[in-house]
Amino acid sequence: MRNITLVSGDITAARTDAIVNAANASLLGGGGVDGALHRAAGPELLEACRALPEVNGTRCPVGEARITPAGRLKAGYVIHAVGPRYGIDPDPPALLHSAYRHSLELALAHGCSSVALPAISCGVYGYPLDEAAGIAFSICGDPRYRELTLTFYLFGEPIYSVWSDVLASSASD
Ligand code: APR
Repeated sequence: MRNITLVSGDITAARTDAIVNAANASLLGGGGVDGALHRAAGPELLEACRALPEVNGTRCPVGEARITPAGRLKAGYVIHAVGPRYGIDPDPPALLHSAYRHSLELALAHGCSSVALPAISCGVYGYPLDEAAGIAFSICGDPRYRELTLTFYLFGEPIYSVWSDVLASSASD
């Protein structure tokens, strides 16, 4: 998985074609990654999200992703992915896998070659760090995405160490 890099840092600093957001189904912002990206992007990002079609408060079902311009962020696009709430949403592994896959498919469809990603569902949504890492690397390591330069921005410890260990063991598989 030579196209995958891990960095310990704030994803708002990413200078990539697309930045993946760890969003919720409303796409109206929140805390964590979502809050940081909206603060850094400015109000245009929320305006772009509000313009997306909404059904009963949902602009993006769990396990899917939507793409918008990136406002003042150093990126062309923000890809808003909605990961599963661990212990609440059904079949979390399948939904987490799907959220990453939809994100990467949108990046390909929009001609992106570099993508910054967070550890979707590993914060408020409570996904176990090692299990989430295994899922993230299984989809990001798919040959279909080998032309994408993928950088995971992990927020400090312990997640950086846990994800690094999983990546190292995945690479040696
Ligand atoms: N840069 C990189 N990683 C970050 C940042 C940041 N600025 N802020 C938080 N993180 C990390 C968290 O520590 C966690 O490891 O990103 C991972 C995902 O955490 P959350 O942002 O809480 O995302 P998630 O668990 O998917 O929950 C989504 O939280 O913010 C709300 O609106 C969002 O309702 C949605 C829910």
